[in-house]
Amino acid sequence: MAPLGVAVVGCGKISDEYLRNLTAFPDLRVLCCADLDLERAKKQAAKYGVPAAGTLSQALEHDGVDLVVNLTLPSAHAEVAMAAIGAGKHVWNEKPLTTDPASGRALLQQAEQAGARVGCAPDTVLGTGLQTARRLIQAGAIGTPQTGLTLMQSPGPESWHPSPEFLFQLGAGPLFDLGPYYFSALAMIFGAASRVAAVGRRAAATRVIGSGPKAGTTFPVGVPTHVGALVEYTGGAAASLLFSFDSPLPRHGFVEITGTEATMALPDPNRFDGDIRIHAAGHGDWEVIPSAGAPAGRGLGVLDMARSLRADRPHRASGELAEHVLELMVAVQASLAGAAFEPVDSGFVMPPPLPEEWDPYARTL
Ligand SMILES: NC(=O)c1ccc[n+]([C@@H]2O[C@H](COP(=O)([O-])OP(=O)(O)OC[C@H]3O[C@@H](n4cnc5c(N)ncnc54)[C@H](O)[C@@H]3O)[C@@H](O)[C@H]2O)c1
Repeated sequence: MAPLGVAVVGCGKISDEYLRNLTAFPDLRVLCCADLDLERAKKQAAKYGVPAAGTLSQALEHDGVDLVVNLTLPSAHAEVAMAAIGAGKHVWNEKPLTTDPASGRALLQQAEQAGARVGCAPDTVLGTGLQTARRLIQAGAIGTPQTGLTLMQSPGPESWHPSPEFLFQLGAGPLFDLGPYYFSALAMIFGAASRVAAVGRRAAATRVIGSGPKAGTTFPVGVPTHVGALVEYTGGAAASLLFSFDSPLPRHGFVEITGTEATMALPDPNRFDGDIRIHAAGHGDWEVIPSAGAPAGRGLGVLDMARSLRADRPHRASGELAEHVLELMVAVQASLAGAAFEPVDSGFVMPPPLPEEWDPYARTL
């Protein structure tokens, strides 16, 4: 077997981390970089030693490419992924899967008919942090998981992102931009959600870009920038989540799972590693457990897809999981408008945790 051929489509900010990792995994070979902006594609190809650069069509015509890594903007996720599947490729989308469940479902259906696979970020759920936590929970470290509590608050990404406008429009905002990390992490513990309710608000109608060539430019805010959500899971668990771009006090990565015997603090779900802390009933202190396994970053989900494809087994960061999380977030948004519980109907197959010895840097293909 040979390494799986990959094309990266969308060579913007997040493409650096992907290209750094994808080109370091021996089981993958990045063959082409593509972007609407050809100069960006060429620059990233040159920087990471990728042999070809061009348009989306050129990437899709490349015979060696089996899997397209779609790092375009959320509004282009569905269109680019559909084109990739139409060209006979498998596809990995950055999150969210698409901007609405109908196009997400259509994408999964098209892929199924074509015999293609869809994977989707966040692959932080495959990081050593959450994987260690899952193995500990499976081994009974907190008893039966019952409830989840998450907090994500910041002043907003417009201070550091040079083109933050899309982060305040349909398909983004704190709910859709950061919700996938938190909802996916909880899904890996509690399974599928059954209903949600939420309240939210928008602190300002416009914001100002804080860095890069467009610094000082005012842009409109089209989504709620503070969302508090309640989730009930089919298995009976319950969770409370807060997402906010309206807080001067940054607080990232707070995820606690409480079980019948103990509370577990997970590492930041927007990171791949970190310690796990367990506070058992009747104990004054947290027990700190380092995450186990070889650390790596964005691209892990693509690698698991490649290895799973070749082994003919399901990949872990699946399109179905991402579609469920998208449906959940859309239900949260609907609840904001109607102030009522909204049902969530979709589900996904819970993937097994990665084995502790799973090594992204080993050559297995
Ligand atoms: N920036 C981050 O920290 C971050 C973190 C995690 C996930 N993401 C996700 O990654 C994706 C990209 O984010 P980014 O911050 O890199 O955005 P970006 O604006 O920096 O880059 C997006 C790139 O996609 C290209 N593009 C857009 N439509 C295209 C199309 N139809 N065909 C080909 N190229 C197209 C653009 O020209 C641009 O170069 C988004 O889905 C975002 O949610 C970003």
